[in-house]
Amino acid sequence: MYGTLFSKVYDAFGWNFYPEEFAELLLKWMQENEIRVERMLDIGCGTGVLCHVLQEHGIKVHGMDLSEGMIEVARRNYPEIPFEQGNMITYDTPLRFDLVTSTCDAMNHILDPFDLAEVMHRVHGYLAPGGYFLFDLLKEGETAECDPEDLGEIDGTRLQFQIGRTEEGLVNLKIELFRDEVVVQTEEIRERIYSPELVEQLLRQAGFQQVWCTDQLLRESEHAATWFVIARKSNPVRKL
Ligand SMILES: C[S@@+](CC[C@H](N)C(=O)[O-])C[C@H]1O[C@@H](n2cnc3c(N)ncnc32)[C@H](O)[C@@H]1O
Repeated sequence: MYGTLFSKVYDAFGWNFYPEEFAELLLKWMQENEIRVERMLDIGCGTGVLCHVLQEHGIKVHGMDLSEGMIEVARRNYPEIPFEQGNMITYDTPLRFDLVTSTCDAMNHILDPFDLAEVMHRVHGYLAPGGYFLFDLLKEGETAECDPEDLGEIDGTRLQFQIGRTEEGLVNLKIELFRDEVVVQTEEIRERIYSPELVEQLLRQAGFQQVWCTDQLLRESEHAATWFVIARKSNPVRKL
């Protein structure tokens, strides 16, 4: 769970660069594919950066996230955007969206494949007909284990970040806060690596008929270090 440490670090150390880059890519993808988005929802929106950039391009944006800390930062930074605290596994809304996004491996935070299937089912429910669900997914090897790395200081206390693996093969992200060289607070986050094949199967079971998984979102772009998954809800032609 993203508590005070991760939320602070995100805001203070500029970990916002990813949603900014993703927003740019997303806008180009929409342009390249002539996709019109009036209303979108970002699930696992973190500090709300993606919502903010898309709102500046005239899209009605909504964000939701499990972490009170992340939502607090998002509301403080962008008070005009509706952000909700909630769990994407159980989240529902009467609104219908042309686009639902989830970035920076937020979907990898869902550790149980049955819960992941439930998220996809729910997203399919609140997408408008013809709407898109677009998210990124960790590639195996993207989160190699590393030695503790110094992040810098917040309010005179030093922070360290480390990527590890649990015995069950989950990715473990750890932040430690030091005071006088003694660890005074630790926060850990677990992530599961999913194969694109399983994710595609779960999306199809949730009702998505068109599913793509690519590491090259734009026609002319380089292969990215992450997977992009795009699923489209069908748009049945209305019979008279
Ligand atoms: C790595 S952060 C990415 C945040 C943001 N999407 C970005 O690109 O900066 C992952 C986010 O997913 C959120 N998250 C994890 N599990 C969630 C769940 N079950 N429901 C909603 N949000 C969740 C976390 O609280 C965290 O803010």
